[in-house]
Amino acid sequence: MRKPLVAGNWKMHKTLADARALIGSICEGGGSIEGVDVLVCPPAQLLFPMAKAVAGTSIMMGAQTAHEALEGAFTGEISVPMIKDTGCTHIIVGHSERRHVFGETGEQLAKKVSAVMEHGLTVVYCVGETIEQREAGQTNDVVQRQLSDAIHAGIPADRLLVAYEPVWAIGTGETATPEQAQNVHQFIRSKLAEIYDQPRSESIRLLYGGSVKPGNARDLMAQPDIDGALVGGACLVAEDFLAIIGAAASTSVTSV
Ligand code: PGA
Repeated sequence: MRKPLVAGNWKMHKTLADARALIGSICEGGGSIEGVDVLVCPPAQLLFPMAKAVAGTSIMMGAQTAHEALEGAFTGEISVPMIKDTGCTHIIVGHSERRHVFGETGEQLAKKVSAVMEHGLTVVYCVGETIEQREAGQTNDVVQRQLSDAIHAGIPADRLLVAYEPVWAIGTGETATPEQAQNVHQFIRSKLAEIYDQPRSESIRLLYGGSVKPGNARDLMAQPDIDGALVGGACLVAEDFLAIIGAAASTSVTSV
């Protein structure tokens, strides 16, 4: 039985005062919800204070990206050991904004995944097609290529989460239907079974991302291969994020 996980990707939002208010409400409402793991991924300047704020709760912290090198002359970047220092346990790699806005390549993402693994953290590896690719019937090919760029049998399956985030659904208010999302999740799991083996593919949590809201979260997460959500916009409002966490918890109760 896979425990659902709800992750909030704060992207480039929140100054310290706003972040303290948000994390305070999340800890109050979400720190004790059973049957679901909660991960928050604030921007880099907030990692230390947010780690302090979640200390003593079950809420986990993650970063939104990392540089693949240990250290060096990489102005503006932050490395995996630096992130680990803050108390983070997870790092998102390959988010579509990193791929499409910042031009990160499959080769680079493979190095980032390796760096995260080397330092004992967990990767949330994102994949997903653009609208043109979907309309051209290339969704599975794109997702398969993105997986094979960075995920291989040497990557510990117990420190890997995969997030399927169709680019056309991110920040657009358009969501994949539960059936569309389930089809791709099932495909991803079948590919993971080829990379690893059946039992390990069954143990890896697959998150859906792309305009997840309180109103659609439950139906998405009720699908057999959708084990949680990677939430952008809705995670910036405590009430909405808590409702999505609650939806995840209710799917885990009904599927036990
Ligand atoms: P969204 O973002 O929920 O605002 O669509 C999701 C993401 O980018 O992870």
